[in-house]
Amino acid sequence: MQFDLFSLFPEVFTSYLQTSILQRAIEREFVQIHLHNIRDWTTDKHHVTDDEPYGGGGGMVMKPEPIFAAVEGILGLHPGAPPPCPVILLTPQGRVFTQAVAQELSAHPRLALICGRYEGFDERVRTGLVTDEISIGDYVLTGGELPALILVDAITRLLPGVLGDPDGAADDSHAMGLLEYPHYTRPPEFRGMAVPHILRSGDHGKIARWRREQALLRTLHRRPEMLTTAPLTPADHKFLSKYNDRK
Ligand code: ADE
Repeated sequence: MQFDLFSLFPEVFTSYLQTSILQRAIEREFVQIHLHNIRDWTTDKHHVTDDEPYGGGGGMVMKPEPIFAAVEGILGLHPGAPPPCPVILLTPQGRVFTQAVAQELSAHPRLALICGRYEGFDERVRTGLVTDEISIGDYVLTGGELPALILVDAITRLLPGVLGDPDGAADDSHAMGLLEYPHYTRPPEFRGMAVPHILRSGDHGKIARWRREQALLRTLHRRPEMLTTAPLTPADHKFLSKYNDRK
């Protein structure tokens, strides 16, 4: 999978990408991450990438020409031609990024991510270049770089082979529409807090059921709205009905 990241500050990505699982995924060539500086695609003497908004008002707006030139140049596109891969704008106005969106995007062999700065983009970037807009949540950051890293991280760890264990991402919170069950490691008792018996019983059937029930309970208490869309078995419904009555 290839990511092309377009930014005015491509250097901010490097230390995170050189860490832990992402670094290994890059070294082992599960992903290629290409950083592109939008400023390199300006043609004027001062390499200007922003300008004042038409109609007045505060803030600066990112100019369309360098962004179009960068994305079309890197993707090898004729002006106005449809792109060969999703071209995603990171913006608080986009559709909200979720695990399901990460899964959806992980199926593409290549993604182009455009990170903005300043007040926003000239609207023609939206209407004439991008194919998708994504927000990481209902708050506003100073730029799209952190959101782009969040996409790269969440998508890369879903690619086959990236997490050593083939089921590595299968039990994640949100992967099955539920929050994850609690985890424990040694020691068996710490400051008077004991590891639940069942996890040390060696009974894998019981452990699987306990984990499922813990995931259901945690979701019921913390994110009950998720239970309306999670795929639940008859046994799950039966288990939950005991708790629904008591609420
Ligand atoms: N740029 C600024 N804020 C953002 C957000 N919440 N999501 C995606 N891109 C952004």
